[in-house]
Amino acid sequence: MNNIYYVVFFLFGNLTFYAKSSSSTNIYENAEQLISSLKKELSRLRADLTAQKTEETAHPPSCLAAMINTDGIYTIWVPGLKPFPVACDTRTAGAGWTVIQRRQDGSENFYRSWSEYQAGFGQLNAEFFIGLEKLHHITNAEPYELYIHLEDFDGETHYAKYDRFVVANESESYALSQLGKFTGDAGDSLSYHVGKAFSTFDNDKTGKNCALTNVGAWWYNQCQHSNLNGQYMAGGSYEKKLTGRGICWKTWRGYDYGYKRTQMMIRPRCRSSFSQS
Ligand SMILES: *[C@@H]1O[C@H](CO)[C@@H](O)[C@H](O)[C@H]1NC(C)=O
Repeated sequence: MNNIYYVVFFLFGNLTFYAKSSSSTNIYENAEQLISSLKKELSRLRADLTAQKTEETAHPPSCLAAMINTDGIYTIWVPGLKPFPVACDTRTAGAGWTVIQRRQDGSENFYRSWSEYQAGFGQLNAEFFIGLEKLHHITNAEPYELYIHLEDFDGETHYAKYDRFVVANESESYALSQLGKFTGDAGDSLSYHVGKAFSTFDNDKTGKNCALTNVGAWWYNQCQHSNLNGQYMAGGSYEKKLTGRGICWKTWRGYDYGYKRTQMMIRPRCRSSFSQS
């Protein structure tokens, strides 16, 4: 847009000059100068636009836009960020999901600091957290839905899906600013956290040290109904005195159970499903 204003401004400036000097005999010379500088200006603009387009079109903005039909790691481009690789999932809940968090074997430490949660950590083909800064930019670029896949140590799976998911910016402590309508068979253990800031052990926003007592990092309230970045408890059930410290999703297996596998995934919402908002 700024480029357009620039062209108009440029044209106006030159036309004024042209009008002032049009009585003189070097009218053709002026016109030629005007045209030649316009040509230069246009080719500069064209080069700018092409450079911009290349960055945007070389990488899709999401796993959905990538139109892929196999799981894998793909590079996406989201406004406000440099292109970066993400894990795309096409098998768990249909095509087009970007994985933002995965637990599967306890190989990664999830009890980490604010700056680590901000930047993200782990391996995209194993356990990882995508990072709060990316999450903020992705979920603000277009409307997203959230899908949480849970698997227990008996091989049973349940899910929780929300038709809107927005993470606020750094100055709002990456709060879970919006969460849409719940569907699924795991129960709703996330709505309790809507509007809450993200907390880590070194950046508590609860006044209760919830990250510390639940040994995780989450949008803690007072403190939690879910704790998917909690401690990996091989075997699932754990002692009551450790309550809530595991990978907890209260509405399925309660406070004293940690899941074998979790995957949090996001996908741009279909336009046809814009019911409210
Ligand atoms: C963060 O988000 C809030 C609310 O949308 C906005 O008022 C504020 O300017 C943003 N801050 C930055 C640094 O972008």
